[in-house]
Amino acid sequence: MQLLTELLNEDIILRVIWDLLHTHTILCITGVPMDFFDTVFNRYAYRGKYTDEVASFDDVKQIIQAGIAAPTGANVRTTSYIFVTDKDLIQRLHEISKKNVAPVVIILLSENIPNKMGRDCIEANFIMAAENIWLAATALGYATVLNDGVLRNKEVHQQVRELFNLPEHIAVHDFISIGRAESPSHPQKKQDFDEMVVYNKF
Ligand SMILES: Cc1cc2nc3c(=O)[nH]c(=O)nc-3n(C[C@H](O)[C@H](O)[C@H](O)COP(=O)(O)O)c2cc1C
Repeated sequence: MQLLTELLNEDIILRVIWDLLHTHTILCITGVPMDFFDTVFNRYAYRGKYTDEVASFDDVKQIIQAGIAAPTGANVRTTSYIFVTDKDLIQRLHEISKKNVAPVVIILLSENIPNKMGRDCIEANFIMAAENIWLAATALGYATVLNDGVLRNKEVHQQVRELFNLPEHIAVHDFISIGRAESPSHPQKKQDFDEMVVYNKF
């Protein structure tokens, strides 16, 4: 009994409460994911070098699942992913794009699947997925950035298509590195609320 009392010191009790607060059940009851706002406000575009640490399969799987969980127009799933770990492919992607690339990269693809309303939501769909991926990576302590600018260069675009053996009907939009920052940075200051928001009418 005495041992139990000693074990249940303040730190352990606090730890148990903390863990409980993070369970899905509690999140469903309170409706407020504990770390959501920390993640949002700590996310930033990292363009520096990455360490050699290879993100674990489970982490990257969870990050991609966050992308898959994103909303899509009319619930038509147009975004798919390449989970890249092959060192030669990563090295070639770095050479082609001239960007810092982590040991793991997620490539965002899309397929032009028309939805019932005939609306084209492809761009919006993959941006929604990309933001989920970015936030999930941040939540797990990885640094990343969305690389789409370089893929607008026709030559780079074509080389990336060939590197990943993409068939005609599949478009490539972005690649997202998932890695540990060699020199971590910090979020940029964003505009103040009052600068960006008006009430009711413009
Ligand atoms: C649609 C989109 C495309 C982007 N493309 C690139 C890119 O090609 N290269 C890059 O370095 N950053 C890219 N970014 C990151 C933005 O430059 C970055 O989010 C912005 O400067 C704000 O900085 P922050 O993300 O650190 O808050 C992109 C962001 C978005 C939303």
